[in-house]
Amino acid sequence: MARPKIALIGAGNIGGTLAHLAAIKELGDVVLFDIADGLPQGKALDIAESGPSEGFDADMSGTSDYSDIAGADVCIVTAGVARKPGMSRDDLLGINLKVMKSVGEGIAAHAPDAFVICITNPLDAMVWALQKFSGLPAHKVCGMAGVLDSARFRHFLAEEFKVSMRDVTAFVLGGHGDTMVPSVRYSTVAGIPLPDLIDMGWTTQDKMDAIVQRTRDGGAEIVGLLKTGSAFYAPATSAIEMAEAYLKDQKRVLPCAAYCDGDLGVNDMYVGVPTVIGAGGIERIVNIKLNKEEQEMFDTSVKAVQGLVDACKGIDNSLA
Ligand code: APR
Repeated sequence: MARPKIALIGAGNIGGTLAHLAAIKELGDVVLFDIADGLPQGKALDIAESGPSEGFDADMSGTSDYSDIAGADVCIVTAGVARKPGMSRDDLLGINLKVMKSVGEGIAAHAPDAFVICITNPLDAMVWALQKFSGLPAHKVCGMAGVLDSARFRHFLAEEFKVSMRDVTAFVLGGHGDTMVPSVRYSTVAGIPLPDLIDMGWTTQDKMDAIVQRTRDGGAEIVGLLKTGSAFYAPATSAIEMAEAYLKDQKRVLPCAAYCDGDLGVNDMYVGVPTVIGAGGIERIVNIKLNKEEQEMFDTSVKAVQGLVDACKGIDNSLA
């Protein structure tokens, strides 16, 4: 059987890391696409030349021609600009919306059966626009945010409790912005919910509040340190986890920006929710029950995403 084909639209920091991870994990043949002259070809060749030492079997190629992504099984989109210190994800909206239009049209023309994972920020609005521009079925287009935000939350919790990250589960709901909702009640250490761990004296409410806030600011913390761009190792790893769930029909339960059509009370919008990812794409949204306080935070986050979607409609009439 032929190897799956993975098209990476955008060959910058995240795109290059995605290609390297996909090769090392032998998820399939990789096509890097970018408008920057020589960049996708250079990264593809560099990664291909790591193959003999690493010992992977995967073809790597780079292109600036959309016809080369033909028949891709998975497309991961990072095309656009990343933020610099002092910028919010929302500051990227105008530029990246135009990029989503060209990417959406390219995918629709050449890889209409692909499972599409968008990473470009501001994430929830960009994945919404990408689905509209591409016309692909909503369950085949999703956004990577929740896996990354949850991974950051899990990392901070594991450090606080001095336990293995593998035994910490956590998830983060809502938009991929300042209003995201790290769920304390549904996060656990080996099944023990965080509120119980506070009662057991493993940590304090103040420390938990600080970890929740650090999770919300996780992207900005990295931008502040790097100064020239935004995070790329963890975002790429998170998207690869989602791509692998699709390609191997793993039925993973992962939080991601999925199209909500009445789910968790959200209509015609993409927002971070727990989902099941398998060969069918986003196979199910897990309609968890929120308590009053969580619901209020979730509603605030949804409202923030709605504002960005409205801004997209104002910029591009075809989305209205
Ligand atoms: N089509 C294809 N590629 C494009 C286009 C386009 N229309 N416009 C820009 N690009 C490419 C750039 O040439 C660049 O190589 O997208 C790439 C983006 O790479 P980086 O600037 O390194 O950004 P990266 O860190 O990979 O982040 C990409 O993901 O997390 C988000 O906020 C982040 O929106 C940003 C995106």
